[in-house]
Amino acid sequence: MTPKIVSLERMPELLRLMPKAELHMHIEGSLEPELMFALAKRNGLSMAFPDVETLRKAYVFDNLQDFLDIYHEGTLVLKTEQDFYDMTRAYLARAAADNVLHTEIFFDTQTHTGHGLSSDTVINGLHRACVDAKAELGISASLILCFLRHLSEEEAFECLEQAQPLLHKLVGVGLASSEMGHPPEKFARVFARCRELGLRPVAHAGEEGPPAFIWSALDVLKVERIDHGVQAMKDSALMARLAKDRIPLTVCPLSNLKLRVFPTLAQHNIGQMLEAGIVATINSDDPSYFGGYINENFTQTFAALGLGAQQAYQLAHNSFEASFVDASVKRQFIDRLNATFESFQ
Ligand code: ADE
Ligand code: ZN
Repeated sequence: MTPKIVSLERMPELLRLMPKAELHMHIEGSLEPELMFALAKRNGLSMAFPDVETLRKAYVFDNLQDFLDIYHEGTLVLKTEQDFYDMTRAYLARAAADNVLHTEIFFDTQTHTGHGLSSDTVINGLHRACVDAKAELGISASLILCFLRHLSEEEAFECLEQAQPLLHKLVGVGLASSEMGHPPEKFARVFARCRELGLRPVAHAGEEGPPAFIWSALDVLKVERIDHGVQAMKDSALMARLAKDRIPLTVCPLSNLKLRVFPTLAQHNIGQMLEAGIVATINSDDPSYFGGYINENFTQTFAALGLGAQQAYQLAHNSFEASFVDASVKRQFIDRLNATFESFQ
């Protein structure tokens, strides 16, 4: 459909109301300082920061690694299945309030098994929250297990083996953590095994790393989506490939701003991606750390780039197209999207 023209003042309302899918959000990155302190208390742990405000003020980062170090500290409060459940329920309630109809949640088990937890504790807590949120909030959610790329391929195989009894609770696998020095091809064999097991493959590539990492994520790991991918704009042959094969990019503008991938949001390239026919989507990545959930990412990006209703519709449509739900469910989501745009006055 071709959306009606909407005035710039009314765009935030349209962006809020618009049904959407979120395809790039790390559940550990949704852990708000308030819940972090509550979980620390429940588990008898002390925090390195005196209070919520002081902790929030520490969320200033120079690059991805800088962020990952603080993010890792935050995960230390997660100890029990109920902790993982509570964190996930809080995110799902927040996402439902932003009119997210469907979300594909990233998590990792290696961080937590490294702290002595079992991967069952993590997966069962997350999965139970997803089941309850569907019944109570109507939001649908599935889970994507990310391997940590700063660890070895052997450790990724161990992680897969530990998760094996619960693979029916997952939709896919991804690749996260420090990109520089850890190219996708390091994980060629474990991704091949995951594909044989029926897991849908995605990978972070071209967040800070070069276009070559996006090529190898596509050609070696055979991923179905690229997470971030903003560096693809440096390679016109790659842009043509992404557009031709309709490979979605799960872009996270506020993350890119906070991790200094772009100096300002006005310099972000998501508008150019849409013009080039790329299946780009907007997502929150680590909303507790980067200053906003999905609607905040939409409203700030649209204001900075002067985007309008056509781009809003395209991005929401792309999010459903790029999701791993069945074609019939995609159709229902897109019908709801069309109804919202038709009735928006
Ligand atoms: N883990 C959590 N957020 C991440 C990001 N933006 N890039 C890579 N790994 C991550
Ligand atoms: Zn990410």
